[in-house]
Amino acid sequence: MATVLITGASQGSGKATALLFAQKGYDVVLAARQPDRLEQAAEAVRGLGRQALAVPTDVAEAKSVDHLVEQALVKFGAIDVLVNNAGICLTGTMADTTAADWQQIMNTNFWGYVYTIQALLPQFLQRGQGAIVNVGSFGGKMPLPNMTAYCASKYAVTGLTDTLRLELAPKGIQVCAVHPGVINSDFLERAMFRGQDEQDSTARRQQLESTLQGAWVSQPQDIAQAIWEAVTKRRSEVVVGAVAVATEAYRLLPGAMQWMLSQAAK
Ligand SMILES: NC(=O)c1ccc[n+]([C@@H]2O[C@H](COP(=O)([O-])OP(=O)(O)OC[C@H]3O[C@@H](n4cnc5c(N)ncnc54)[C@H](OP(=O)(O)O)[C@@H]3O)[C@@H](O)[C@H]2O)c1
Repeated sequence: MATVLITGASQGSGKATALLFAQKGYDVVLAARQPDRLEQAAEAVRGLGRQALAVPTDVAEAKSVDHLVEQALVKFGAIDVLVNNAGICLTGTMADTTAADWQQIMNTNFWGYVYTIQALLPQFLQRGQGAIVNVGSFGGKMPLPNMTAYCASKYAVTGLTDTLRLELAPKGIQVCAVHPGVINSDFLERAMFRGQDEQDSTARRQQLESTLQGAWVSQPQDIAQAIWEAVTKRRSEVVVGAVAVATEAYRLLPGAMQWMLSQAAK
């Protein structure tokens, strides 16, 4: 019997991934901060006939992550797949964001991933097997206008993932990056918007709300499917949805894309 541990599993892509892995026969460890929603997601997994353990966790706190991994290993003995997915969105320029904003986003989007990997790695190394999926973003493959802190956190995840893959492949451990485009989840609930003033912040929120209406936006189930395929087909990297065209264009023509994106940032 295989087990997956998923952070940010109470809603959105994380919950969709929990349900998909449960349908495929996995038991699931679910982590997020708000216990009620997390328990509801765990109940949905149990409804599919698999075991679920919900552990309220703040991934930005190393001790909280250590507790999560301890509980998971006590319950299931071993974890086969780690999905690092818990993340938050911050929109704003360097001038409009504070050091505290940067620390908050790096603590969740980057350090949260480092803490889970460090806590689980001894078990993966001992068994000589396991898979780590880091959910990044197209903003970790190309710059996005007015999202400096968010992109910095996701570029850090890309660097972590690509380098860790080199380190762990010889030891039998698979490391995958799954980079979503915009997802029609409820991420706006906890997204932070910074602008020159209240009106500017509101305009940034409205801009993202209208982006979510686009037909090209992914659904949480699309991300779950990409994570499943990354693990089962042993893919190193998947960019999900229509944004794959943009990330590929940035890879091939970074200068031209920088110019186009700088026009959008004005
Ligand atoms: N939404 C997008 O358009 C988009 C685009 C590209 C990449 N992504 C990435 O895809 C991933 C999933 O996004 P999503 O839209 O599905 O997110 P979402 O619907 O906002 O869900 C985020 C999940 O992460 C949890 N979480 C947030 N901060 C946490 C913390 N400090 N500790 C533990 N759990 C925490 C939330 O639960 P609690 O609040 O209860 O903790 C929730 O379960 C993220 O890494 C995100 O950066 C999203």
